[in-house]
This record gives sequence, structure tokens and C-alpha cells, in this order.
Amino acid sequence: MLYRRLGKSDLEVSEISLGSWLTYGLGVEADAAKACLDAAFEVGINFIDTANVYGRGAAETFLGEALRDRPRDSYVLATKVYFPMGPEDQGLSRAQIRKQLDASLQRLRTDYVDLYQCHRYDGSVPLEETMDALSEAVRSGKVRYIGFSEWPADAIRAALDLPDVERFVSSQPQYSLLWRRPEKEVIPLCAAKGISQIVWSPLGQGVLTGKYLPDQPAPPGTRATSDEMGGFIERLMQPKVLRAVQRLQPLAAEAGLSLAQFSLAWVLREPNVASAIIGASRPDQVRENAAASGARLAPGLFTQAEALIAEALQD
Ligand SMILES: NC(=O)c1ccc[n+]([C@@H]2O[C@H](COP(=O)([O-])OP(=O)(O)OC[C@H]3O[C@@H](n4cnc5c(N)ncnc54)[C@H](OP(=O)(O)O)[C@@H]3O)[C@@H](O)[C@H]2O)c1
Repeated sequence: MLYRRLGKSDLEVSEISLGSWLTYGLGVEADAAKACLDAAFEVGINFIDTANVYGRGAAETFLGEALRDRPRDSYVLATKVYFPMGPEDQGLSRAQIRKQLDASLQRLRTDYVDLYQCHRYDGSVPLEETMDALSEAVRSGKVRYIGFSEWPADAIRAALDLPDVERFVSSQPQYSLLWRRPEKEVIPLCAAKGISQIVWSPLGQGVLTGKYLPDQPAPPGTRATSDEMGGFIERLMQPKVLRAVQRLQPLAAEAGLSLAQFSLAWVLREPNVASAIIGASRPDQVRENAAASGARLAPGLFTQAEALIAEALQD
């Protein structure tokens, strides 16, 4: 496993990290979830991503229990705030940040998180208030660094221009061969400002592993067939996209990689990406995906892959 510096922080994060959206505390049963986490540590993953809203606290509770016996400084722990935890509890006001951070720390059974991320931008709260509250969290020692997820470029710029507040070190966008929007504005802006990307759904929720075949039912036991986890994958499951993904198989084979590894290596080719946050329902997926770190392959293969996907997404 190779490691990259997270923005201007002193955190070194594994190129492949493990997330917990839909999976842990929710769709993947506890023993399998624990086996995935153990496999992650075995292969050198040191970076774990979660959010208060995942399973409405259940993912954090699972991680708090599963990480209990590991030295706290042996892994980098990231969580998030913004989405509703109850009818009155949402957003990025000072009161919410204080309340939700304390609740996250309690569920995670820790005194601090390494990275506290704003899960989205909250236009209903003055940016000054949000940044003040985040800075207070850092200065209190409960948070080491701050980040954001899917903020508009204007809001990122405005936050960076505020005086006397802590600086963001990370951005968490969706990014994969199937979703390249961050390349337009967010990646160049962040690269210039010392902010790294830690990207979500780098495998398009499993679509970029090639296991979903066009015009065929999804294999049993996959996210697409899951009542608990399948609610967000539909958009990526169009037959023309699945056909294009199958055309990537020979390119991955030429590189000596599985398609999952090839897709992750593509994400990691971007120097502003510090880590690709994978999801996993089984430990063998963690091991396979982790092996994408350090893969070296001819850049021409990536160019061909990009062209095939662009063509499919166009019509
Ligand atoms: N900031 C945000 O708004 C946001 C949004 C979404 C996610 N995230 C973060 O990003 C993390 C990753 O998102 P994601 O779970 O969508 O990522 P992903 O890595 O694109 O998809 C993960 C899913 O793909 C399947 N898979 C993974 N590796 C595989 C392999 N080698 N072979 C076959 N199938 C494989 C597994 O599902 P099955 O086995 O069930 O098919 C797994 O749960 C989340 O856990 C969360 O931490 C953040």
C-alpha cells in the first residue's frame, strides 16, 4: 500500500481507504463488516471514512465498537456532518456542529476525529458561522483537520478567503471513470490551494468492477439487488454504460489487473487525489481493491478507457 499526504495536513493516508455508506451498520451484517475492516488493516489501509448520517449513527456505532481495541493513532478517522439526524437536527449551524460532533465522538468512542467534513454546503447558514464553528472544533482538540464534500467552487473560494479560520485540507467528491465532473473546476481549484481529493464511489458502486452485465439480471448478493443498499445505483446501470464497461475488460487484462483495480488505478492517476474511498461487502473485495495501489500501467490504456466511456455517456 502506498500513502499520500492529505492536503496541507500532516496526515499520510492510504491510497485506498474504506468507507461505510450503506454497508456497515446497515446492509452488510456485522461479522462480514468486521472481516472487511480487519482485512483493510492487514493490507495497509489506514484511512476510514464515515458520516453521522450513515444508518443514522449506526455506521459510527459499528466503527466505534470494531475499532475499540486498535491504538487510536494507528488509523486516520474521518466523519461528516450536515444531513438530517432528526427533524430539527441538520445543517451546519454552530449549534449543530457542536451537537453533532459530540454525538459522533461518543458513537465512535474517541476523543477526536482526524478529519471532520461538511457533507454538503449549507446555504441557510452564514459561511462565517460554519467556519467559526469548525475552527472552534479544531482548536478544542476534538478535530484535527477539516474538509468538505461536494461544495460549489464559489463556496470553497469564499471559505478560503475568510480571515482567522482553519483551512480545509480535503474535498470529497464523487469521482470515477463514470463521473468526471470534478475535473472541470474543483480539482484545479483544490490543487492550487493545497486541498486533496478523497473520492467517493470510485468503482461506481460496483459497476466499474464489470460484474453487472448489460441486459441481464444483476447477480444475487450484489448492491443492485439489495433492498437496503440498492437505492442509488440505478443511474449507473444503463445498458449502454454496462456495455462500455465490458469493453474496458481487455484494457484491464492488458495491464494485468482486474477491472476493479484498473478503475481504481485510473482514479489514482490524478495527483490531486489522495485516496479512493472504496466500499466493500466482503474482505476479498478489500484485498483485491487494495492491490490497485502502486499499479503502473501505460497511460495509453487510460486514454482508451476514457474514450470508450465518454462515447457511451454521450448519447
Ligand atoms: N461524501 C458523500 O456524499 C459520499 C457519498 C457516497 C459515498 N461516500 C463515501 O464513499 C465510500 C465508497 O462509496 P461506495 O460504496 O459507493 O464505493 P464503491 O467502491 O464505488 O462501491 C462499493 C461497492 O462495490 C462493490 N465492490 C467493491 N469492490 C468490489 C470488487 N472488487 N468486486 C466486486 N464488487 C465490488 C461492493 O458492493 P456489493 O458487493 O454489495 O455489490 C461495494 O460495497 C462510502 O462508503 C462513503 O464512505 C461519500
